[in-house]
Amino acid sequence: MALKHLFITISAALVANAAAVSKRATCSTGQTVSNAACCAWFPVLEDIQQNMFAGGQCNAEAHESLRLVFHDGIAISPAMEARGEFGGGGADGSIMLFDTIETAFHPNIGLDEIVNIQKPFVQKHGVNPADFIPFAGAVAVSNCPGAPEMQFFTGRKIATQAAPDGLVPEPFHTVDQILARTNDAGGFDELETVWMLSAHSIAASNDVDPTVQGLPFDSTPEQFDGQFFLDTQLRGVLFPGSGGNQGEVESAIAGEIRLQSDHLIARDSRTACEWQSFVNNQTKLQDDFQFIFTAIATLGQDMDALVDCSDVIPAPQPQNFGATRFPPGKTNADIEQACAATPFPTLATVPGLATSVARIPPPPGA
Ligand code: HEM
Ligand SMILES: *[C@@H]1O[C@H](CO)[C@@H](O)[C@H](O)[C@H]1NC(C)=O
Repeated sequence: MALKHLFITISAALVANAAAVSKRATCSTGQTVSNAACCAWFPVLEDIQQNMFAGGQCNAEAHESLRLVFHDGIAISPAMEARGEFGGGGADGSIMLFDTIETAFHPNIGLDEIVNIQKPFVQKHGVNPADFIPFAGAVAVSNCPGAPEMQFFTGRKIATQAAPDGLVPEPFHTVDQILARTNDAGGFDELETVWMLSAHSIAASNDVDPTVQGLPFDSTPEQFDGQFFLDTQLRGVLFPGSGGNQGEVESAIAGEIRLQSDHLIARDSRTACEWQSFVNNQTKLQDDFQFIFTAIATLGQDMDALVDCSDVIPAPQPQNFGATRFPPGKTNADIEQACAATPFPTLATVPGLATSVARIPPPPGA
């Protein structure tokens, strides 16, 4: 009995091993991948790069696709499950499958636009929506110069019901609330919460200030870089319309919007030094974001059941910028130092007169 069991175990292992080896495949589209199941994603890649990301740009659709990954994934609460309530399924595509419910939740304002943009691609290619959302997000980030190599896993279980309301952080939440939420959702600590917020390096707001669309969070919203961490550490100045809305505080650069949550996390003693560490350490920024993106994009899923299709994601756009610099007119004297342990790095200033940062309007018709 024991021997038979051993034999079966070994043969099963050999079969599994043979299957793993033979899985390495050349796709009909020409690329070689580690698992033949990944081939299906190349036509999707080609289509979204051309027809959603305007030929591989880090555009508004790319920014929105990244935000969608977070708002789908973070909607999971083991604490609610422990109380006997349904706590959401995490990265299960519920934000697309139950979009009429979830995009009506307050923190999801505006996400109906990108869901409506993405849905036809999901339908056309017949792919799993829970996988498509992180796929589009990973491709989106790879389009932004300075991005890490992004990972992509397939095979997610899809949502059978909408996530409950109240699980997505809001910009008017306290640091305590946000840290408690990310900790509940994925066991993330305060440092990992800072890592997540690197996403706001390639981001703009359409809805926090209802009168102005496409206000960036930093002065280089097409680059995945440390500028966001610098800009948010500058002392705020009151511009027309700056700081007047719920969840918004005064920004330091004309044309930029600063979320209250980003402002507070940049200044909280638990998070300020980690925040500062990203100002001019591109390698750390990339490594930590690569890790945390995959963690968010697989919340609620069994990693062992997923297939690694990272070889479908394009190599990131090369870094086309140098060390982080102060925007025109700003220097180290404008920093509101919050990290007690380490001084703010001494950085150069972009020459010239201060100008207003250009807006990134949402897609037409969205
Ligand atoms: C944890 C606390 C967070 C809060 C309170 C927060 C809040 C916000 C808010 C209020 C906006 C502006 C929405 C609008 O007005 O259109 C925004 C935009 C954005 N967020 Fe977050 N966010 C958080 C974390 C994250 C994370 C972890 C990611 C991704 C990993 C992310 C990705 C983005 C992106 C890419 C945008 C820009 C979307 C665009 O340009 O259209 N955010 N966030
Ligand atoms: C960047 O971060 C890494 C990881 O924390 C650290 O080892 C390295 O010293 C940092 N580099 C700089 C220039 O601060």
